[in-house]
Amino acid sequence: MTHTIAVIPGDGIGTEVVPEGLRSVRRAAELFGIDLSFQEFDFASAAYWQQHGRMLPEDWFEVLQGFDAIYFGAVGWPDVVPDHVSLWESLLQFRRRFDQYVNLRPVRLLPGVPAPLAGRAPGDIDFLVVRENTEGEYSSIGGRIFEGTEREAVVQETVMTRTGTDRIVRFAFEQAQRRGNHLTSATKSNGISHTMPYWDERVAALGAEYPDVRVDKYHIDILTANFVLHPDWFDVVVASNLFGDILSDLGPACTGTIGVAPSGNINPTGAFPSLFEPVHGSAPDIAGRGIANPIGQIWAGAMMLDHLGHADASAAIVDAFERVLAEGTVRTPDLGGTATCSDLGQAVAEAIKAS
Ligand code: NAD
Ligand code: IPM
Ligand code: MN
Repeated sequence: MTHTIAVIPGDGIGTEVVPEGLRSVRRAAELFGIDLSFQEFDFASAAYWQQHGRMLPEDWFEVLQGFDAIYFGAVGWPDVVPDHVSLWESLLQFRRRFDQYVNLRPVRLLPGVPAPLAGRAPGDIDFLVVRENTEGEYSSIGGRIFEGTEREAVVQETVMTRTGTDRIVRFAFEQAQRRGNHLTSATKSNGISHTMPYWDERVAALGAEYPDVRVDKYHIDILTANFVLHPDWFDVVVASNLFGDILSDLGPACTGTIGVAPSGNINPTGAFPSLFEPVHGSAPDIAGRGIANPIGQIWAGAMMLDHLGHADASAAIVDAFERVLAEGTVRTPDLGGTATCSDLGQAVAEAIKAS
């Protein structure tokens, strides 16, 4: 069986790390006898916008929906297109229209990566952020009134549906059952008086169905502090769209760099393709210099293979980048080295072993 993969490099370092991710994915496929077919698209980028005046072709949904997965780099080039336009007209449409309601973001202190938190070693930081990915604070409901006057006002509504809340919370409980039977919920029900108490209510109600899972909750302010002070307290962390976004940059920062962090935008029903990308963005400050860390993109490729049913090939990629990082001879600048993006990409691809 051939798996079809749509490849969308996007902007900035997206175009630099995607080829490195593909190098490892292709190598693992070769070693494990997996048949993959790739088709690359130039949309969801500032260059496409400049040419066409839009981020995506009109028929993007029909074009992409038949693929088994989407392998995505990063989008956003604020000098050319305002970020809220480029993101709402590309990545956020993919997540919403393909109902990728789970955003899985593993956080792990990797061997050989200099840890910014004193005294922390691999094993101390190993948790999974389960981020709600289609509703919550990221809503299109709102607007601006009395524009340009003293009475100018702007409103943006947060939407939490019962279906949307329950399905992400359930997914997180199931992940907790596969890991350490411990779930942490990110809340802010002391200050946000409607949506967050509802979130807490659903976590508590569903928790009754998972009596083996220990549940705790923290308000988002102290939770961010505890990520830094006690990262070893966490195993699976479930959060709303915005809180999950923040936690999934903070977590990887606690492990040394956001350059290693992967992200799986999952539609668990399989009705539409899931999308795999690094957590980071297009990094205009380092784009074009060939120094981006490709590990986040490579790890996202491993998550994609796992999602496609190839846990062995996926594990072989993870094992390869762990060994390369532990050895420490090929490091990009964010890891304290001088290697290029492709030096590290090549070292990882060459280290992949058939099991
Ligand atoms: P960013 O993640 O692009 O960069 C933040 C910082 O981390 C920068 O200093 C950057 O150099 C560094 N960094 C990021 N990835 C790195 C890597 N692989 N190796 C080494 N260093 C790395 O976030 P930003 O600066 O807030 O956003 C830049 C653009 O990307 C904006 O347009 C933003 O909207 C967009 N963005 C897109 C995505 C996405 O496509 N999923 C995610 C985040 C931001
Ligand atoms: C991410 C990004 C996006 C998000 C932005 C670019 C809209 O930060 O994938 O984490 O907020 O989801
Ligand atoms: Mn983010």
